[in-house]
Amino acid sequence: MLKDKSKREFLKISSLAAVASLFPWISILAQNNKTKSPSDKVKLAIIGVGSRGYGLMANIKYMIENDSANVEIAAVCDNYQPHYERAIKDCGNPKVKAFYDYRNLLEMQEIDGVIIATPLYEHAHIAINSMKAGKQVFCEKSMARTLDDVKAMYDTHIDTGKILQIGHQRLFDPKYLEAIQRIKKGEIGIIGQIRAYWHRNSDWRRKLPNGRPDLEKKINWRLYRDFSAGLLTELGSHQIQVANWVMGKTPKSVMGTGSIRYWKDGREIYDNVSTIFSYNDGTQFIWDSMTSNRKYGLQEQIMGDLGTMELETNKVFMESPPAAPGIRELINDIEHFVFDNIPIGGATWVPETAIKYKGEFISEKWEMDETKLQLEAFVEYIREGKAPEILTREGYNASIWTLLAEQAIDIGKKLELPEKYQI
Ligand SMILES: NC(=O)c1ccc[n+]([C@@H]2O[C@H](COP(=O)([O-])OP(=O)(O)OC[C@H]3O[C@@H](n4cnc5c(N)ncnc54)[C@H](O)[C@@H]3O)[C@@H](O)[C@H]2O)c1
Repeated sequence: MLKDKSKREFLKISSLAAVASLFPWISILAQNNKTKSPSDKVKLAIIGVGSRGYGLMANIKYMIENDSANVEIAAVCDNYQPHYERAIKDCGNPKVKAFYDYRNLLEMQEIDGVIIATPLYEHAHIAINSMKAGKQVFCEKSMARTLDDVKAMYDTHIDTGKILQIGHQRLFDPKYLEAIQRIKKGEIGIIGQIRAYWHRNSDWRRKLPNGRPDLEKKINWRLYRDFSAGLLTELGSHQIQVANWVMGKTPKSVMGTGSIRYWKDGREIYDNVSTIFSYNDGTQFIWDSMTSNRKYGLQEQIMGDLGTMELETNKVFMESPPAAPGIRELINDIEHFVFDNIPIGGATWVPETAIKYKGEFISEKWEMDETKLQLEAFVEYIREGKAPEILTREGYNASIWTLLAEQAIDIGKKLELPEKYQI
């Protein structure tokens, strides 16, 4: 009975307004110098309406239909006919303007902000031209395919003063925010190591339309080196962002190794990657990703001398758990409707690593959609005419260090970031 989802009493967070006080990114904004008043409609365009762009479009539609957000999807753009047509049909605005070429879209004076969800190699020129055309920009992670393009995007943001928000949605996840605040207060002590992994067991391929093998690189761009750094840019960039955020700084060096171990299907990107990022205080961030085993899934483990936080699953484990942990765990489990089978017999030999303590939940606020929250924030920033700089810097550093890791793997050397890319 307790497992009935409808009976759960988790805090449901449906809009940014409900959690604005939690977010340094929101509360530091000035409340009075708005460039657009709440009664002015914010007009958005979405460029690249494939898998992610379609999802972002659905989030905005939800905001309009359910949260009465004063926002409009005024234009969509995609250079692939089926996605172009699907976006027109599903965007919820019968008067939407649609484009195959984003440069024509940028001529629409009334567009306030563009959301870019094209493949990685198609981010830089679109973001740069959009900012130069006076648009505020939300661009999906990672920023760009090369270090120079990432830097050029950042420089354009500085030169034009336009918003460049990068789609690292964990920055809008209350459970991450609470965890980071508690880590910074010293709750888990001195951090010695951060471990993160993102493991899947699938070929990561998208099906091509019948009779169209010529679309392989268009559809499966993630698997080819000209267009993507694969697991590093697609998955690792999120977790490198988290590590930098926890540390409050960027690494000093990175080294790593990668291979095409399992999916020998013509792909060019590594399907098996291990990296170590070292910070100047000696903390190590160990990140790996593989695509032929999913037992351990996805996690970020922040390991201090007083405790460990596992951010994806919202758990904290103290090194010296409180007294009577069994009772506390039981209460914790009942409160959170989590139950394990009770073991009848135990091993006679207990390895040093076997820790039965199942930890506590970090935050109660975990039924929410951080992707929608970051888009709500983007709309707020457009009204303000500016966004907190940390959102650009976090994206920049995550992208830069992801690409540097790729280089370190390729040449088999430990690398430091050249000065010209430091911001
Ligand atoms: N933040 C996240 O959790 C998250 C999750 C998934 C994807 N993403 C990011 O979103 C981006 C898109 O990923 P996806 O899975 O949606 O890819 P996708 O291939 O499904 O979609 C990309 C779309 O962009 C279109 N496109 C390509 N070049 C274009 C151009 N020059 N002009 C207009 N349209 C163009 C394609 O036709 C396609 O419809 C990537 O950067 C990816 O890393 C982020």
